[in-house]
Amino acid sequence: MKLSTTCFMENRKDQLITEGHNSSRRSFFKRTSALAAISLTPSVFVKAAAAGVDEKIASAFEKMPLSLSINNKAYNLQVEPRVTLLDLLREQLHLTGTKKGCDHGQCGACTVHVDGRRVNACLTLALTVEGKQITTIEGLAEGDKLHPVQEAFIEFDGFQCGYCTPGQIMSAVCCIKEGHANTAEEVREYMSGNICRCGCYSNIVDAVMTAKQGGKKL
Ligand code: FES
Ligand code: FES
Repeated sequence: MKLSTTCFMENRKDQLITEGHNSSRRSFFKRTSALAAISLTPSVFVKAAAAGVDEKIASAFEKMPLSLSINNKAYNLQVEPRVTLLDLLREQLHLTGTKKGCDHGQCGACTVHVDGRRVNACLTLALTVEGKQITTIEGLAEGDKLHPVQEAFIEFDGFQCGYCTPGQIMSAVCCIKEGHANTAEEVREYMSGNICRCGCYSNIVDAVMTAKQGGKKL
């Protein structure tokens, strides 16, 4: 009797060890399968992108007519519904003064004016500005005469690498026109949507305040 109990216990122990081994094998296979799926998925997308599949899908969208004015010049265009104002300006019209920073409405590098109001071009679908007046940094100067805010940015070194500068200037023009440039604190608040990774903020504030106090027509 004692012998058979011992045999049963040992058999059970072997069974448990085998089950534990199988269970860890199963979870190992589950984990490696999941990892394989994760690691394979991006390459599928990469291959699809390389084969131009995304462009073929995109080309299925019908282009729509779009009439608008950019820097006082009339345009009659054909535009896919998915295209943003930023991509229209940069990719289709080669107005590359407007910069793409985050492409998510968080840095202000893409700021342009739509009917005199500042907007993030990366968050604006091109078709939504039908019939509107767009001003980009290219349209701010009058011939060789720089805009007063452009002059102030140069005078106060309101930039370092310059990548954020077109957006800063476009935003600053509206900030002043809106009446939000009365104090340094106000300028910081109302320009807070424009990020400068070089950290030129104090010079930018000085430039905006000076342009405002200069009283020139903006
Ligand atoms: S690129 Fe539009 S907000 Fe950053
Ligand atoms: S000047 Fe470099 S990001 Fe502003």
